[in-house]
Amino acid sequence: MREVNIEYVKDDKDFRSNESYKTLRTNIEFAGDINKTIVITSCTPGEGKSSVAMGLAVTLTEAGKNVAFIDADLRKSVILGRYNVKGNVKGLTHLLAGRASITEVLFRTNISGLHIIFSGLVPPNPSELLSGKRFEQLIAFLREHYDYVIVDAPPLGSVIDAAVVAKKCDAAVIVVQQGKVSHKFIQEIKMQIEKTGCNILGVVLNKVDYDGNKYYGKYYGKYYGEYYGAEGE
Ligand SMILES: Nc1ncnc2c1ncn2[C@@H]1O[C@H](COP(=O)(O)OP(=O)(O)OP(=O)(O)O)[C@@H](O)[C@H]1O
Ligand SMILES: [Mg+2]
Repeated sequence: MREVNIEYVKDDKDFRSNESYKTLRTNIEFAGDINKTIVITSCTPGEGKSSVAMGLAVTLTEAGKNVAFIDADLRKSVILGRYNVKGNVKGLTHLLAGRASITEVLFRTNISGLHIIFSGLVPPNPSELLSGKRFEQLIAFLREHYDYVIVDAPPLGSVIDAAVVAKKCDAAVIVVQQGKVSHKFIQEIKMQIEKTGCNILGVVLNKVDYDGNKYYGKYYGKYYGEYYGAEGE
């Protein structure tokens, strides 16, 4: 298996965020073996799905878990650029289109225990590719070989892809940016996921303003996530 370097920088002084990720990890561990393949979505763009997905994946590896991260945002992926991955890598779309094998698209990373599948070239038909047999087989394969499979998806309020992915996953986590979306919208997204038969693990409230200032306040740019209950309410 080829290895790539991902420049993931964790702020060790950001205790609140680190504690939140540990709480999220513990909640996921307690959700048991039936919740191993987990899709991360949200209502709208930019609420923090990709950040939370990667943060969660890394936090799981810190507890000795083997994690496969799949970048399933086939339309607008940021993972390669954000983590400064060098080289020409084939990704999920190559696999789903039958143009690459799992071993060609699965990369070991410099983070021990973390393997990753990047999104690949933007295809004309993302939802169709994700709803095919190949994606199902991939999830089944990874489920066998890893402790957790974390799937980063697009926002469900914009495109259907996350529901298509949810259908093949055990569980979903909804990332909600504080103050951005209505309760009703979140309920709608929750129901849409539930209809696929996917278990809702909960909601991560992201970009939380702890000091009563506007959303980011003076903490703009820092990662503050908080895990909310197991019922996704
Ligand atoms: N807790 C946080 N505090 C401050 N900024 C954050 C936080 N989480 C994410 N961000 C920032 O918000 C922006 C969007 O984050 P991210 O790409 O993770 O969201 P997304 O939901 O995956 O977006 P998209 O819908 O485009 O895929 C990024 O610039 C990221 O650095
Ligand atoms: Mg994203």
